[in-house]
Amino acid sequence: MQSANGVLLALKNLDHLFQNNKAWAASIKEKDPDFFSNLSKQQNPEYLWIGCSDSRVAANQIVNLLPGEMFVHRNIANLVVHSDLNCLSVIQYAVEVLKIEHIIVCGHYGCGGIRASLKEEDHGLIDNWLGHVKDIARLNEPELSQLPEEQRVDRLCELNVKVQVLNVCATQTIQSAWKNGTSVAVYGVIYNIEDGILRDLKAQINSNEQFKKIRYGQP
Ligand code: CO
Repeated sequence: MQSANGVLLALKNLDHLFQNNKAWAASIKEKDPDFFSNLSKQQNPEYLWIGCSDSRVAANQIVNLLPGEMFVHRNIANLVVHSDLNCLSVIQYAVEVLKIEHIIVCGHYGCGGIRASLKEEDHGLIDNWLGHVKDIARLNEPELSQLPEEQRVDRLCELNVKVQVLNVCATQTIQSAWKNGTSVAVYGVIYNIEDGILRDLKAQINSNEQFKKIRYGQP
């Protein structure tokens, strides 16, 4: 709701969301009357999605999957930080309990977190989180410094996804899974908000041998 001077007025309650929800549940039941009762018994998702919190990169929606089909973790700039118990717990649950074999790290072009990490400005607390992206920028400075600003942001979005794919592979959960012969593949993809298209970054890793070769340059 906008006031005369354009200031956004706070809505008094969540009525419109409850209304939307009723209409949504009804439309799903119309197509499949048993949808929710079946879903309430168990979840059996095939994919784990690690994506950005950005409201425009709505995980299930952009790959047209229904509730129950994808396990999701989102944070600013789709990071997999070695000591982030939140993300690490999601990965463990996904692989060890849900038996998920496909882990997708999804970045997106024009990511605000990535853009902020390239600026010298003070953003407060979040600068601690974005320090992980600043490290990637620093390591790729020779390439990034050749690019104009917008391309630099987008290239860092891609490089960030590739590093986060490696970080997923480095987790104790994935290391043990591969040692035990469990099949798990980690993919890197990037979404373009401007046209709604998801692109494969060809950063897929299926085994510890492949991971070590990429990460440490071992033959
Ligand atoms: Co983002």
